[in-house]
Amino acid sequence: MARLGVNIDHIATLRQVRGTRYPDPAGASLIVEQAGADQITVHLREDRRHIQDRDLRTLRHTVQTELNLESAVLEAMVVLAVDVRPNTVTFVPERRKELTTEGGLDVYGNRKQLKEKTEQLKKAGIRVSFFIDPEERQIRESREIGADTIEIHTGRYADATTPDEVKKEFERIRQSALLGKQLGLYVAAGHGLHYQNTGPLAAIPEIQEFNIGHAIIARALFVGLEQAVREIVAIVKK
Ligand code: PXP
Repeated sequence: MARLGVNIDHIATLRQVRGTRYPDPAGASLIVEQAGADQITVHLREDRRHIQDRDLRTLRHTVQTELNLESAVLEAMVVLAVDVRPNTVTFVPERRKELTTEGGLDVYGNRKQLKEKTEQLKKAGIRVSFFIDPEERQIRESREIGADTIEIHTGRYADATTPDEVKKEFERIRQSALLGKQLGLYVAAGHGLHYQNTGPLAAIPEIQEFNIGHAIIARALFVGLEQAVREIVAIVKK
């Protein structure tokens, strides 16, 4: 049965757009955990558009499951992570103007930097995950460099519009999950997943973890956060 990480960035987005003190991501995380999530995921972006440093530090004290920090491949972020000690750091590519993370890491092209930073984190006892597109070369290179986990970017699957395209993207993810598992990597998946498109991926036994955010927070507006998480838990753990 796969684990569920809930990305709570958009609790902070709502707070930041008005400069208020609410809603609070740490408060949200308690509800999310009560509803059956296995992990709290946050992305501390370089531009600090949603999650702030103090959120990360508070969450480290309050999260009872696991804390997964999504981070750009930056020295300052590694220093912060070694200090705060999330359970996992997920390296993601980051571009200032993007609405959300738009593609996977180019592990191949950033080998030296990634290897160095992965070693620093692992020495501190932090698991390291690489957020990558479902491509053989990126998976093999992640393994070479020493990542513990690959998180497969499911954005193209989520954005696919025709049945053929959906099938093709689904198959790319399935093959990538298989290869990751064969190479001894822990396999996660995420991005753009929601109540309609997660079920088929949850049936792939090699995918051991999902990280889902936007759809859950959006659904929470109508049914409440606890119910929104319970509904996705039921899909992921079916
Ligand atoms: N996984 C990673 C690595 C991400 O960067 C994001 C978005 O922050 C997610 C999962 C969650 O994506 P979504 O909000 O589309 O569910």
